Amino acid sequence: MQLKLEKFVCVLGLVASMTATADTLTRDNGAPVGDNQNSITAGERGSVLLEDVQLIQKLQRFARERIPERVVHARGTGAHGVFVASKDLSDLTLAAPFQKKGKETPVFVRFSSVIHSKGSPETARDPRGFATKFYTDEGNWDLVGNNLPVFFIRDAIKFPDMVHSLKPSPVTNIQDPNRFFDFFSYEPGSTHMLTWVYSDYGTPANYRQMDGWGVHAYKMVDAEGDVSYVKFHWKSKQGINNLNLDQVMDVQSKDFQHMTRDLYAEIGAGNYPSWDLYLKVLKPEQLDDFDYNPLDATKMWAGVKEVKVGTMTLNRMPSNFFQATEQVAMAPANLIPGIEPSEDRLLQGRVFSYADTQLYRLGANHSQLPINRPVVEVLNYNQEGFMNMGETDSDVNYQPNRDGVKEDPRARHSSVALKGYVQQAAIKKQLNFKQAGDLYRSFSEQERSNLIRNMSGDLAAVNDKDTQAKMISHFYKADEEYGTRLAEAVNADLKKVKALARAL
Ligand code: HEM
Repeated sequence: MQLKLEKFVCVLGLVASMTATADTLTRDNGAPVGDNQNSITAGERGSVLLEDVQLIQKLQRFARERIPERVVHARGTGAHGVFVASKDLSDLTLAAPFQKKGKETPVFVRFSSVIHSKGSPETARDPRGFATKFYTDEGNWDLVGNNLPVFFIRDAIKFPDMVHSLKPSPVTNIQDPNRFFDFFSYEPGSTHMLTWVYSDYGTPANYRQMDGWGVHAYKMVDAEGDVSYVKFHWKSKQGINNLNLDQVMDVQSKDFQHMTRDLYAEIGAGNYPSWDLYLKVLKPEQLDDFDYNPLDATKMWAGVKEVKVGTMTLNRMPSNFFQATEQVAMAPANLIPGIEPSEDRLLQGRVFSYADTQLYRLGANHSQLPINRPVVEVLNYNQEGFMNMGETDSDVNYQPNRDGVKEDPRARHSSVALKGYVQQAAIKKQLNFKQAGDLYRSFSEQERSNLIRNMSGDLAAVNDKDTQAKMISHFYKADEEYGTRLAEAVNADLKKVKALARAL
């Protein structure tokens, strides 16, 4: 194409002049490159010259291509799409996507695995991330969830330790069940999540055929400031499809990128995957009605009915992986009027942690990148920093000010009544084993056998017999058959397991 471009408009609306033709190779400063095949040398047998600015710039830019990978959820793939509300939820929340039946909100979803690094096989057992950025009329709202309904721990203070134990050893760089089962043997609340992860739900066949869960309770706040507690659930319209261990081995031997490949292939072929969004709702006065704490991320709200509130369809893959999928900054702190974090202690830590890591991983101005920019105008006085692409032209960089830039009282945080003392104590009503047992008993015989087979592989690798017995006692406490089958599968001392379980 020999089209001569006089001017082009870049993403930020700046008009730049360009004299090169559209297919002329240029340096970063826009100047045409004369020779991209040969370095400049001093004669035929002489050294390469430092003045070869094209060579130097290419090598410099190449050496700086990598940014820090996400500390968790490093491997992922994303897609653009749209969320359409199927209900008017204005009696429950001010949140913009739910104000009118049929309301459309653009979204970007990033699916991921958790523990393994950016180039790891997608067959590895792991929860899968299911993070959705809603570009709403009142700013970006990120619902950063997983494909499993609960989590391993209930307090953010434990997250770095848990992740250290699950990541490869600092000595050998090998992931080691001796390390993570050591950690989990002190964490009986993980029994429920471990049962999910070691079932075939820990190895989904692809990203389209899995559900997504918000995991935590959030608050929805209406125009009067009334608060409800809600949980979110994306139900796959493609159904659920998990791989058993034999299928995992088979897929792994052929294609370790099957989940990413599947999403590009299906969306590329026009088979757009979709998910219905369901809500469970509790009034604040109902929070005490359960034998567990409903703000504990290790628990599902069993028995609370779900209501469908909309459908999301993914219909476009990003044109560049790095610019969209790698640079997207999903953060539970990205909230909009009508949605607030609940008092869930794990969520409270997440509200800080993601925005913080993104300031490090992507920089102070990452929210100005096209994938992270809200569709509404941003007007605040956060300024400067590396790579600022803003176009500030006023000397008013403070508020309040005579320009009349004001807050919106609708967006004010809801009020919460408090009682008690500043404290540092574990939550009450931990109920560590009941829902794990219920889950085990809900599985078919085939699903139970697969769970035992999947878990006994890793449990058998635990050299310390006390740690192994302690771990199995948690599963025995959840369900006697579950614990007995595990003990038999790894030749553990069942008497010792039972004694430990009695003491729990
Ligand atoms: C206190 C507990 C947790 C902490 C401190 C934490 C921290 C983090 C951090 C630092 C990242 C990397 C973010 C980035 O670099 O952009 C991340 C990613 C992620 N986390 Fe968590 N996490 C926690 C629990 C959870 C839970 C309970 C869920 C699911 C409900 C979850 C789902 C995700 C997802 C889906 C991503 C990837 C987001 C993306 O695709 O960019 N995390 N987490």
